[in-house]
Amino acid sequence: MFEKLFGKKNAGEPLPATLQATLDKALAQLKDPYLQQAPAQEAATLQGNTAQLVLSLPYPAAGIAGQLEAPLREALLADSAVEAVDIEWIWQIARNSTPRNLPGMAEVKNIIAVASGKGGVGKSTTTVNLALAMAAEGARVGVLDADIYGPSIGQMLGVASGTRPDSSDDEQYFIPVESLGLQSMSMAYLIDDNTPMVWRGPMVSGALQQLLTQTKWDGLDYLFIDMPPGTGDIQLTLSQKVPVTGSVVVTTPQDIALLDAIKGIEMFNKVDIPVLGVVENMSVHICSNCGHAEHIFGEGGGEKIASQYGTRMLGNLPLALEIRQQADAGQPTVATDADSSSALIYREIARQIATGLIGKNEQGSAIPSISIVDD
Ligand SMILES: Nc1ncnc2c1ncn2[C@@H]1O[C@H](COP(=O)(O)OP(=O)(O)OP(=O)(O)O)[C@@H](O)[C@H]1O
Ligand SMILES: [Mg+2]
Repeated sequence: MFEKLFGKKNAGEPLPATLQATLDKALAQLKDPYLQQAPAQEAATLQGNTAQLVLSLPYPAAGIAGQLEAPLREALLADSAVEAVDIEWIWQIARNSTPRNLPGMAEVKNIIAVASGKGGVGKSTTTVNLALAMAAEGARVGVLDADIYGPSIGQMLGVASGTRPDSSDDEQYFIPVESLGLQSMSMAYLIDDNTPMVWRGPMVSGALQQLLTQTKWDGLDYLFIDMPPGTGDIQLTLSQKVPVTGSVVVTTPQDIALLDAIKGIEMFNKVDIPVLGVVENMSVHICSNCGHAEHIFGEGGGEKIASQYGTRMLGNLPLALEIRQQADAGQPTVATDADSSSALIYREIARQIATGLIGKNEQGSAIPSISIVDD
């Protein structure tokens, strides 16, 4: 950021007063679609005929930057002194406080738990795509696979089976595995395929806490946790021990899955973790031959529970063959088919999550963050 602010962008002269006034006016009229606020002006200079701007928003928003820039470009280009406009964005992602005064993690600004009451609703698929979407928006992102019994994150991120994480020089920490621009950690990286997972509750939450606290995450804005399916003791303990900033509940529109989603929302309510919203997965089937859309599992259920439980519907993902095939192939939709309508839905949900986190859990004074070392 320093380089951006004080490096090449400062090579030009300050904007002439009239041009600065034009910019101020255009900026004042601009509202981002989530927080309804104007981007902040970090720097504005003129080099030759090129206006150079550095703007910032408090969340990653690469996907809408172009749309936000358009009226600014237009206003500046209307001035005869300007022939080109060069805009650079800074995503000023803050560390949001955690509920119940749990100490935060030094290297992780925000932790997002992705949960579902029921197994098989597409939680892991949704988690990896949302994580990739958040990274595509411009954030540094990690994924923790907390599904001890059925870890699938590594495979979905194309991590070769048998990959082991390196350890830190002092042998105290695991170094997360990098793939598709994400850092990830999973039980799958520590066990081999033949290790039977016959652990009881306390061992599972112990192992998870260890994964969380003994992984040397490298400066993450967001860490997504793919929670184990269900809303039992393991999930509850985890929610209590991990400094989660906010949660997302994934459901399908079937009645049973919706009931389970309610349990998920209630679980997070119990431990004071804000539920940022519900993602309805496989909500409509798009025929890959004719494009016909059919609501195989019913319609509008996610919307209904979101409003009943005072939370939001973050988005609907279709039941689409490509989503399954791409995740199975270790190249999830957002990574491999970035312009597809599904990828754009994940991107939109990611921005909603990022903005939904802002100001959550704030109870007066800011809570200091300390780093958790081993116990
Ligand atoms: N929107 C979708 N369209 C088509 N297939 C999907 C979609 N979402 C997920 N799937 C497929 O459904 C299956 C289950 O998805 P996934 O493994 O993500 O579910 P899960 O909730 O994490 O399951 P578990 O409870 O076992 O952890 C996978 O084969 C996945 O590829
Ligand atoms: Mg899963």
